[in-house]
Amino acid sequence: MINKRVEAAVNEQIKREEHSSRLYLAMASWCEVSGFPGAAAFLYAQADEERMHMLKFVHYLNDRNGHALMAALDMPAPEYKSLHDVFEQVMKHEEYITASINELYGISFEEKDFTTANFLQWFINEQIEEESTMRGILDKLNLAGEGKSGGLFHIDKDLAGMAAARATTTGTTAE
Ligand code: FEO
Repeated sequence: MINKRVEAAVNEQIKREEHSSRLYLAMASWCEVSGFPGAAAFLYAQADEERMHMLKFVHYLNDRNGHALMAALDMPAPEYKSLHDVFEQVMKHEEYITASINELYGISFEEKDFTTANFLQWFINEQIEEESTMRGILDKLNLAGEGKSGGLFHIDKDLAGMAAARATTTGTTAE
C-alpha cells in the first residue's frame, strides 16, 4: 500500500496535470479564434500531452494500490491580451509544475518511498524539455515584439510545424 502522504501528493499532482490540460485547451481555443492557427495546433497538442501526464500518474497510483481521484477544477481564463501573453503564462505555469514535481519528489524521499521517487525521474526530465521549448518560443516572441506583425505570422507558422512534428512522433493529432 502506498504511503498516504505520498498518495495525497500524487492526487494533487493529478489535479494539476488535468488543470494544465484544460488551461492549454483554453489558450488553444483563444488562439484559434484570434487568428493564430499554428499556436492553436501547438497548444491543442500540448493539452493532449498534459492529459497523458495526468494518466501516467493515475495508472501509477492505482498500480501501487492507491486510488486516483478526479478533483473539481477551476475554469481556466478564457481571454488573453496577446500571443505573447499566452506564452508568458505557459512559461509561468510550466515553472509552477516543475516546482510541484520537485516538491512531490521531496515528499517521496521524506517518506522513504523510493519507488515513487524513481517514477518521478521521467517527469523531472520532461520538465527540463518543456521549460526549454516554452522558453525558446517566448524568446522568439520577445524578439518579434507586440502587435500582429509579420514576425508573429512566422512564429505562428513555426508553431504549426512544431505541432505537426509532435503529432508524428507521439501519434496524437494536433487539432
Ligand atoms: Fe505536465 Fe507541462 O507539465
